[in-house]
Amino acid sequence: MADASSLNQTSLLPIDDLTAKKLSSINNSHSWEDPAAGLALARHEFGEHGGVNMSIEASATFTVMEPETMGRMFNGELGADKNHYIYSRHFNPTVLNLSHKMAALEGTEAAYCTASGMSAISSVLLQLCNTGDHVVASQSLYGGTHALLSHFLPGKCNIMSTFVDIRDLKKVEEAIVEGKTKVLYFESMSNPTLTVANIPELCRIAHDKGVKVVVDNTFAPMILSPARLGADVVVHSISKFISGGADIIAGAICGPANIVNGMMDLHQGPLMILGPTMNAKVAFELSERLPHLSIRMKEHCNRAMAFANRMKKLGLKVIYPGLEEHPDHFLLKSMVNKDYGYGGLLCVDMETEQRANRLMNLLQNDTQFGFMAVSLGYYETLMSCSGSSTSSELNEAEKALAGISPGLVRMSIGYIGTLEQKWNQLEKAISMI
Ligand SMILES: Cc1ncc(COP(=O)(O)O)c(C=O)c1O
Repeated sequence: MADASSLNQTSLLPIDDLTAKKLSSINNSHSWEDPAAGLALARHEFGEHGGVNMSIEASATFTVMEPETMGRMFNGELGADKNHYIYSRHFNPTVLNLSHKMAALEGTEAAYCTASGMSAISSVLLQLCNTGDHVVASQSLYGGTHALLSHFLPGKCNIMSTFVDIRDLKKVEEAIVEGKTKVLYFESMSNPTLTVANIPELCRIAHDKGVKVVVDNTFAPMILSPARLGADVVVHSISKFISGGADIIAGAICGPANIVNGMMDLHQGPLMILGPTMNAKVAFELSERLPHLSIRMKEHCNRAMAFANRMKKLGLKVIYPGLEEHPDHFLLKSMVNKDYGYGGLLCVDMETEQRANRLMNLLQNDTQFGFMAVSLGYYETLMSCSGSSTSSELNEAEKALAGISPGLVRMSIGYIGTLEQKWNQLEKAISMI
């Protein structure tokens, strides 16, 4: 088999050592205390010619040496775990390498990467739910996910959702319809309100009733490890902190092998059938960025904490879970991985959309503090007024329930420049309001 043997021969380590390393990384995946350690334990792939970076498998299709092999691959006997690849909408070796790193980062048995965060979310929900099933979801979710659960899935697939305030554990329990509810869905730290989910308790409630827990950890990679706190599946919009460059749209599903492999099933899996495929070149780019994610997250968090404290002292209404007065501060503190901090996003409630727009305009066009743009996790600070942008899918009542005031400005704090330089720009704009 050309692809399998060439991979083994051109790696710097013989196959037995590679296999041993892979196994040891799997065995160790639950022993780390810091996701950076988990990532460092993941198998390092070398390039075809011994390069320190892996090669990019840019092929859409893969050849076989004997005609019988094709049938054995299609009946599931030979798969990616045995270095047999068919077609890159299914497993691609480079995307699989990045996926192994994502699994190592989240401490899950398996993972696979997708073309966007939304495709990761919709595919996992379609894997876990059939028509007529029910989802219990947080009322405070990214607008796109909210629209998926409130309109798209009910209309297209008859998968209904009940939205609840997940801080009220009793309400969550009551919303679960035994036998019908298949998924409890929430964000570890919610977009945009920065509500923190009590992951262990929510998992306990769901698991008692046989419900799977899916957690979107887009806002808190490295900071929180939902699977280690009990979640079944962790999804990511890699487009944000994990990419860090605001230049790539990508996603990931991290979870048990049976769920991830089920999603990749050649004949039935939503990733294979719907085809939200990550390109191998994108997977390579992203794999180069994962090693410095921990360093980037620490600085995002460090600056967000400093600015939140200083903005609070200036009398602004700051929402940041690192502040002791944030209602979820101590809950977050009990769950975070050590030394990362409390997140790279903060919100400031300017009360009206006009005041929010005035602040953002000054910050971008007068003091060069950051950019008015949606998204997050970039090295520059990105600011948006959530109610009229990324949460505009929610109606006024839903926004009120989610705690999104019309003047809420979400800031993804960047790390470019020096902290004092950026603070001076922020303070100057505030003084001009
Ligand atoms: C929390 C959260 N989840 C998922 C998504 C969707 O991700 P993507 O834009 O990569 O499809 C977003 C996008 O803003 C998000 O903020």
